Amino acid sequence: RGLNTRCELAEAYRYGDMDGHPEALPDNVRVLEQTQQVRHLHTVLRNRNTERDEFVFYANRLMRLLFEHALGGLPESSWQKVTVTAPDGSSYEGVRRATTASGAAASLVGVSVLRAGETMEPALAAVAKDVRLGKILIQTNPETREPELHYHRLPTSIAESQVILMDATVATGAAAMMAVRVLLDHDCPEQNITFCTLVASAAGVSAIAYAFPKLRLVTTAIDPGLSDAYYIEPGVGNFGDRYFGTT
Ligand code: URA
Repeated sequence: RGLNTRCELAEAYRYGDMDGHPEALPDNVRVLEQTQQVRHLHTVLRNRNTERDEFVFYANRLMRLLFEHALGGLPESSWQKVTVTAPDGSSYEGVRRATTASGAAASLVGVSVLRAGETMEPALAAVAKDVRLGKILIQTNPETREPELHYHRLPTSIAESQVILMDATVATGAAAMMAVRVLLDHDCPEQNITFCTLVASAAGVSAIAYAFPKLRLVTTAIDPGLSDAYYIEPGVGNFGDRYFGTT
């Protein structure tokens, strides 16, 4: 669709106005429904006076909702029909994760973008029992402001897996796009990637969604602004510092 300059997207997704404009989102972007529960979690996270233990508790809750939503959006081909016998002996027609040619369950891999993405690993493991984890360390060069890849370690099965790529925040989208390129370089098909984040700027969402139209991007909020220092506005401040208590 020929929609969405970054400004249009920012306008449509001005904080609190999300549900009114679902048509303004690129097709590959999903925002968690802004229920009162979700808004409550965000209210705690966005409050500058929230103490660290509370920040961690509510961030972890929001992560689990995010991952349940993301798993619910995996492609149809990730599932196959199965019939089980209920305790009373009757049949239940259900689904399970699709199996590979060898008969093993198709694997799910989580890849975190360090440092903040690492905070999301326990929440993913809590909802995806058999997930395998990889890591990518990308840091922004303070002089050039460009992201630089310092380290990556990925499970060998990544090319045949559904991949949940995770970072707590997306500002410009540059680090996320570099992380996606690392996955593509490891033969992971773009359509197998679901990028999950808690808070994204409209500009970052727009950049990622257009650069990689086949991946799925799932977030719990899209904020309109980005400061000159590349902080999301209103945002949550420095997520890693608040979560790890390094402020
Ligand atoms: N990283 C953060 O932790 N917060 C932002 O707003 C942007 C990048």
